[in-house]
Amino acid sequence: MSTSNLGDITTNRSLPLSPQRLEGKVALITGGATGIGESIARLFRRYGAKVCVVDVQDDLGQQVCEALGGDPYACFFHCDVTLEDHVSGAIDFVIEKFGTLDVMVNNAGTSGSPAGDIRDVDLGEFQRVFDVNVKGVFHGMKHAARVMIPRGIKGSIVSLASVASIVGGVGPQAYTASKHAVVGLTKGVAAELGGHGIRVNCVSPYAVATSLAMPHLPEGGRTEDALEGFYAFVGKNANLKGVVLTPDDVAEAVVYLVSDEARYISGLNLMVDGGFTCVNHSLQAFR
Ligand SMILES: NC(=O)c1ccc[n+]([C@@H]2O[C@H](COP(=O)([O-])OP(=O)(O)OC[C@H]3O[C@@H](n4cnc5c(N)ncnc54)[C@H](O)[C@@H]3O)[C@@H](O)[C@H]2O)c1
Repeated sequence: MSTSNLGDITTNRSLPLSPQRLEGKVALITGGATGIGESIARLFRRYGAKVCVVDVQDDLGQQVCEALGGDPYACFFHCDVTLEDHVSGAIDFVIEKFGTLDVMVNNAGTSGSPAGDIRDVDLGEFQRVFDVNVKGVFHGMKHAARVMIPRGIKGSIVSLASVASIVGGVGPQAYTASKHAVVGLTKGVAAELGGHGIRVNCVSPYAVATSLAMPHLPEGGRTEDALEGFYAFVGKNANLKGVVLTPDDVAEAVVYLVSDEARYISGLNLMVDGGFTCVNHSLQAFR
């Protein structure tokens, strides 16, 4: 084959270079009432997708959807991701409402209680973290696949992992283990769903100032103004200096992964951590 015949293979001229990158897509976002999930819902709308926000915080979730234009562009559905029938019901609601599900974002998560001595960890608390962070993600993947496969939808599933999916010592034991499990589920399900043209990825942020992360500053990092203390501690320990990681930075990574620009990316754990997990912080050779 001459190189001139390779044109349509080597370049993808069908990719839209438009601010409406997600136009025509329908997305379900778990834990979309606050924090990173709220940013994902807002940016998805900005890029043209219709969204269904699900959460256990009904009032906040409904407010988010109203701010995004309300029905039929943004709808709220009450859903506790630890309960399979809730997740299954939410996905059926999206299919009934919009006729399709192109994007599933498993964002709902919990950090559990701040890290303590492993000898004092309550197993019920350990289980609770796994129920939200692992079982919740599994429910989302399972029921997204249930509706995507028979409809021939070449969809995309993105889950929120964390820098705690790569390194220890940045969160409680159960949180670290649960986020490693999210990466395992992502790879396993990417291997399975690739045959159906469905992509499965996860995103791993460094610390973002949300209600999940704020209570986990070590005592030495706390100040009277909680947010100021958070930024100072997180900034001091960041690899990339002079940039504050925001929920929108994480949401932009999710937008990329679900967009057609990422059409050949699957099984990836995309780090949004400014290099935090690729650096050995203890040597400080370049500091
Ligand atoms: N904030 C960070 O520093 C950070 C860093 C890495 C990864 N993450 C991950 O990002 C995701 C979002 O976290 P965030 O920081 O925005 O936290 P957040 O607490 O602001 O938001 C989490 C949302 O999930 C919802 N939720 C919790 N349990 C639920 C359940 N059982 N069913 C349905 N919804 C539930 C909450 O109501 C809330 O709206 C989580 O998976 C978290 O582990 C956060």
